[in-house]
Amino acid sequence: MSHDDFPTDRPAVVTCGLPYANGDLHIGHLRGYIGADAFTRALETLGQQAAYVSGSDMHGTPVAVNAEEEGVDPESFALRWHEQYEETFPKFNVEFDNYGHTHDETNTELTQEIVRTLDEEGYVYEDEVLVAYDPKADDHLPDRYVVGTCPYCGEKARGDECDEGCQRHLEPGEIENPTSVRTGNPAEYRERTHKFFRVSEFADYLTEFLDDLEGTSNARNQPRQWIEEGLQDWCLTRDMEWGIDYPGAEEEDIVLYVWVDAPIEYISSTKQYSDRVGSDEYDWEEVWKNDGEIIHVIGRDIIQHHTIFWPAMLEAANYNAPRAVAATGFITIDGKGLSTSRNRAIWAKEYLEEGFHPDLLRYYLTTTGGLQQDVDFTWTAFQEKVNGELVGTIGNFWYRSLLFAYRNYEGRPDVEVTSEVEERIEGAIGEFREAVNDYSLRECGLAATRLAQFGNEYIQRNEPWKLTDDDPERAAQVIRDCVQIAKAVGVLLEPVAPGKAQALWEQLGEDGSVADAHLEDALEAPPRRFEQPGELFEKIEDDRVDELETKLDEKITAAAEQETESDEGDEAEETDMADETETAADTSDLEPLLEDRISFEDFQNLDIRVGRVEVAEGIDGADDLARLEVDIGFETRQVVAGIKQLHDLESLSGTKCILLANMAPAELFGVESNGMILAAGEEADLLTTHGDADIGEKVR
Ligand code: 2FM
Ligand code: ZN
Repeated sequence: MSHDDFPTDRPAVVTCGLPYANGDLHIGHLRGYIGADAFTRALETLGQQAAYVSGSDMHGTPVAVNAEEEGVDPESFALRWHEQYEETFPKFNVEFDNYGHTHDETNTELTQEIVRTLDEEGYVYEDEVLVAYDPKADDHLPDRYVVGTCPYCGEKARGDECDEGCQRHLEPGEIENPTSVRTGNPAEYRERTHKFFRVSEFADYLTEFLDDLEGTSNARNQPRQWIEEGLQDWCLTRDMEWGIDYPGAEEEDIVLYVWVDAPIEYISSTKQYSDRVGSDEYDWEEVWKNDGEIIHVIGRDIIQHHTIFWPAMLEAANYNAPRAVAATGFITIDGKGLSTSRNRAIWAKEYLEEGFHPDLLRYYLTTTGGLQQDVDFTWTAFQEKVNGELVGTIGNFWYRSLLFAYRNYEGRPDVEVTSEVEERIEGAIGEFREAVNDYSLRECGLAATRLAQFGNEYIQRNEPWKLTDDDPERAAQVIRDCVQIAKAVGVLLEPVAPGKAQALWEQLGEDGSVADAHLEDALEAPPRRFEQPGELFEKIEDDRVDELETKLDEKITAAAEQETESDEGDEAEETDMADETETAADTSDLEPLLEDRISFEDFQNLDIRVGRVEVAEGIDGADDLARLEVDIGFETRQVVAGIKQLHDLESLSGTKCILLANMAPAELFGVESNGMILAAGEEADLLTTHGDADIGEKVR
């Protein structure tokens, strides 16, 4: 079954993954919340009824661990952050129709009701499970209270997820070499009775669900592999006090796993919105129980939760299935992984303190790279976007058109728009509509930018300033066209830059809000008269960028120094209590040199060869892995390398590389790897030879 194009006559809800209420918001969070906000606005511009909801994720170990570290109770800790988020989002023009939190009454009741239904429908059973236990602290260690090794890929992982490796969700008892985050001691496994949800029964349903699912390709394809590998049932409860009680087990010291009540907040938040505005205006049950359009915007690290557990839970509890899951890539800072603990982040409050308009960041984040690509934030790239596209293309076009119109006609000249311009605007409207249906925010924003670019060319080509005396009618015509293009750019830019689009709207003398405008308004004449316009965008000077880059470097260095000092002072800090929002492995701090030396013979045992990449392609379902065919003279070797996200694979063919040829073969994601390609640094900079050593030569 394929879905009808937007706009449909059914109400839509757009959600964004709930932020854990445990720390300051940063640019990594903002990418998702701004993206989902812009997508909702874009749907509304198409004429789709849509609500944008989310809320703070108050439960679970990400909150409890941080609250414990601060020595405060988790409820007041989480509420404090929740309030801060409520204040911060509007400052980025992120306007939720409802922003709740998972600990409120609506969500507590709805969660218990849904879990009761799962139970009654026979989808819940009890089983014994191994739970990590800290004998020194005499307590159980759910989820992030424990760290260890991922049983699937061998990377360092948290108790609940393989955040630095294969990104899999980990069930209790799965993590190997468990170590307590509380004391740093090895943890023991003890048997406990817990409740399980029969996710495994939903394999066929989920396969069909994925066939229909829209959104980004990573969210539609990656889960197929998990289903093929066999779904495991899902442990619904945890040995903790902080959370929502399992219905009927209020006396026991177990609560529902945070990932049960968190997505249910999507429904609760929609319900709160519906209750506030009245179901005649927006009916949450139409969306969630009937056939409304449910669109989830998430980070790519939580695809499994949204494409396996959540739709299975919705189906089991007789709710509607999501129409789309759009998973965003990560944000890197100056080419390195965003790291909250290392202060390698652009914090929301920091950006605002620098005095930049929120729409500049909105435009940068939505139009740099596709939704599922990683975006590298640098102040220089930010400056280029702002100065080039917002100041140079859009702002310049708006200002010169409106100023000319104001000075010569006191507003819009009183003639009809030419068919050439009308058709160009219709073309931009078509691009925008298609972009929304493709979940491509980038193309939505760029539809406006390209139209403004056309406007600049049009005005330049027709030179109205030369026509005012000799051919005043023609001059009026050109400016009339430009005023219409300016208005259309405003309508199309609104989802991405609502504040600036509103300012343009007011300059055009339009009443009300540009957010209420629909695509057809782009072709409606603006009022006849308007006031003198002002410039809407300001250039960012090079000095300012230098200053910002220096500040960023300094704070990262200061954090690194502090980390070194505290490491020296406290060995127990080894296990990190903080909710790390690492978004990529950070190896910028050089690894210490190994003390142990090897003999020349040991080195001789490494058969390292010069090779040439013949083929490089991503491995389906694996986030980071690529399959390479490397010619090493004697033969062509197939190797698997973790470079999928780091290189433009197509362009690698023909690149000389260095291969460890006598590496024991291994199988990764079902693909045999017969050697190891050598690379350095976080960007997997491929080693090569600086001269013309032949393919197959041994490295000595
Ligand atoms: O990974 C996270 O940050 C979670 N707080 C996201 C929850 S999204 C949802 F489904 F609840
Ligand atoms: Zn893993």
